[in-house]
Amino acid sequence: MGKDTIRILAIESSCDETAAAVVENGRKVLSNIISSQIALHTLYGGVVPEIASRKHIEKINQVITEALRQADMTLADMDAIAVTYGPGLVGALLVGVAEAKAISYASGKTLIGVHHIEGHISANYIENKDLEPPFLCLVVSGGHTHLVRVADYGRYEILGRTRDDAAGEAFDKVARAIGLGYPGGPKIEKASMKGNAGAIAFPRAKVADNPYDFSFSGVKSAVLNYINGCKMKNIEIIPEDIAASFQKAVVDVLVEHAMHAVQEYHAEKFAIAGGVASNSVLRESMRAACEKRGVSFYHPSPILCTDNAAMIGAAAYYEYLGGTRHGWDLNAVPNLKLGER
Ligand code: KG4
Ligand code: ZN
Repeated sequence: MGKDTIRILAIESSCDETAAAVVENGRKVLSNIISSQIALHTLYGGVVPEIASRKHIEKINQVITEALRQADMTLADMDAIAVTYGPGLVGALLVGVAEAKAISYASGKTLIGVHHIEGHISANYIENKDLEPPFLCLVVSGGHTHLVRVADYGRYEILGRTRDDAAGEAFDKVARAIGLGYPGGPKIEKASMKGNAGAIAFPRAKVADNPYDFSFSGVKSAVLNYINGCKMKNIEIIPEDIAASFQKAVVDVLVEHAMHAVQEYHAEKFAIAGGVASNSVLRESMRAACEKRGVSFYHPSPILCTDNAAMIGAAAYYEYLGGTRHGWDLNAVPNLKLGER
């Protein structure tokens, strides 16, 4: 193996997916194994942290073994072991971090801790071989809504963030309120296809002191109030119309704030990332808005939008090139800030 080929075994266990991947030079995925716990957590209507940790410890060795097997490699072929060390559920993160440290210790391979959001952003590098910083990226997941300027590999400036609920969290809560269950995002998207997005006027919140910040608790409350109002007045509730109208309200705000930033920062490239980035209405609205402004638009495939380890391997490669090396004291950091070491 020449010095120009860097292979990384990446591990992700920050929430409810136990995942491992082998990634070559940051952009070539040799394997990407995801063991989802969604069916288990659906029983409780959301992620139960302790159950997530217990499931991770049960699955992690199998997932890693399968990732190496599908890549047709052994640990000896790896240059580094990468792992998400924050943000996320502490008990869930600890499983991946302890595993990565044990493998790194036993094999003598370099250990690289990766920020989960940096992973989501880096998912864009995998299928868009021409994408390089600088660019703007909207990260929309179950736990985060960040508008980020990617100045360079590993260099991030957060322009805006949510003041309350994350976009995905709002999808999950509204889905629960209209009886669609967990996880809400994909279910709202499916229901919306049969609904009228203009049926109900839900609010599009602006945050007074920062045009790039978001607030989604208002639209969530408006949906709940609308449902209560219908019940009181005996008006028929049409979940598909609520889903489509709510989704449109969220997408409109995301697009408006993102394009404001595109204009102000004279961005030539714009990307989306995170679980909500697999939403086809968001994707098409962003694509149209970017096209109108002559801006190149990037997005990962749905499987690389939701939590996976290939994105951690992509981020880890650029961290590796930048000299990031973690020691035996690496710990889970549940509220890790983007850009912190
Ligand atoms: O990135 P992710 O897998 O986990 C976090 O880091 O949070 O994102 C999960 C979130 C959930 O809130 C889920 O409802 C949302 O992404 N999501 C979607 C869609 N698919 C997943 N939201 C809207 N439309 C979708 N198609
Ligand atoms: Zn995520």
